[in-house]
Amino acid sequence: MNNESREVPLLFTPIKLRSVVARNRIVSSPMCQYASDDGGPEEWQLVNFGRFAMGGCGIVFGEESAVEARGRKTHHCAGIYKDSHIASYRRITDFIKSLGAVPAIQLGHCGRRASQHGPLKDRALLSEAERPWQGISPSPLPPTPGGAIPREMDESDIRATLVAWREAAQRSIDAGYDICEIHGAHGYLIHQFLSPLSNLRSDGYGGGLEGRMRYALEVVEAVRAVWPQDKPLFFRTSAVEGAGGVWGIEETLALTRELQQRGVDVVDCSSGGVGGDGPMPGVPRVPGFQAGYAREIRRRTGMPTVAVGMIADAHHAEAILRDGNADLIALARGLMDNPNWPLHAARELGYADPLGLVHQREAQRLRLLEQHSKEYPPGSAIEIPFGPGEQVSYSWQDGIAARNDRR
Ligand SMILES: Cc1cc2nc3c(=O)[nH]c(=O)nc-3n(C[C@H](O)[C@H](O)[C@H](O)COP(=O)(O)O)c2cc1C
Repeated sequence: MNNESREVPLLFTPIKLRSVVARNRIVSSPMCQYASDDGGPEEWQLVNFGRFAMGGCGIVFGEESAVEARGRKTHHCAGIYKDSHIASYRRITDFIKSLGAVPAIQLGHCGRRASQHGPLKDRALLSEAERPWQGISPSPLPPTPGGAIPREMDESDIRATLVAWREAAQRSIDAGYDICEIHGAHGYLIHQFLSPLSNLRSDGYGGGLEGRMRYALEVVEAVRAVWPQDKPLFFRTSAVEGAGGVWGIEETLALTRELQQRGVDVVDCSSGGVGGDGPMPGVPRVPGFQAGYAREIRRRTGMPTVAVGMIADAHHAEAILRDGNADLIALARGLMDNPNWPLHAARELGYADPLGLVHQREAQRLRLLEQHSKEYPPGSAIEIPFGPGEQVSYSWQDGIAARNDRR
């Protein structure tokens, strides 16, 4: 079959979301770096996220970026809560765009999961000397037994955070982002409102599902009000909670229908973050462990979805799309392991021009490498010159031309 007649793998088919076109359906998933000082990104983020654009991803997320300073988990979490952050993010978005990818930001607020160390110190609570601050949450319940008690948010706290979400979205536009994702998963502030395990309120922001969804929907409305109509808005959900949780797929379907009406374009399907004494078992970590949630949401609501979670095999990714289970495939650790994953996936799926995915500086040299590997078929007689009159035969078995030792 020649290249022209070969079907383009869905993974490498462009996707149009509102007016934004991504060159393929591979997304580098949001990844916290814990490498910021007072919120703004540094060299680390430029290189780390830049390499995923260089490797051929269609959409490149940064990390969860807090909408206000107290909404960071650690002193080193990223944030976009000051106008002075804009220029440092702009450097990253310019670079990502120059490489043909779409830059995306995930906005978040950790709520009660504040004032910790990062994963390298097992997320231990900050000591008094380490400038701790108090988290805020719908109810004064610690994130884990024995953890720090957050302050219960009153209506003015809720209003203040909604302003922070809106302003952070505005800054994200000014910083050059084309996609904005609201982090509604993983036990952070929005999820704390959604779950009856972390929300015991009796006012209009608690109680039944409608009350518990209210904060999430007001955040979406606040962000959508400033996020341009021609740019897509994503929402990351924990489709089911963690071990001992109670929020499940039926609640997520109800939430998705509300998100749909408020201008959310894509639901990014994750899981976990809140647990307790509920009946839910933990989600086993197997390839595609959350893809079934993406399928269910897409099929039952018509909402486009992102499938994420240990998807490392190109044929698996392609099958998820081909079977109509998701519109985009996100990878986090798979890209850390191999930032050129898109290029390798393109080769595996028989995409006509895999090297078209990387910058021509790289592509030109990699084409030569491909050419060399075809010039001399394995096993053919080869001599390596060691001087004008000396040729040494090359052993394919040993991978070396060895001069005679007795010479
Ligand atoms: C280093 C690292 C940081 C992460 N940070 C975030 C984050 O900021 N926001 C988020 O929603 N998920 C975050 N995640 C979760 C990933 O986006 C992804 O959903 C998860 O790792 C499953 O995908 P994977 O199996 O391809 O790694 C992070 C994951 C990793 C490995």
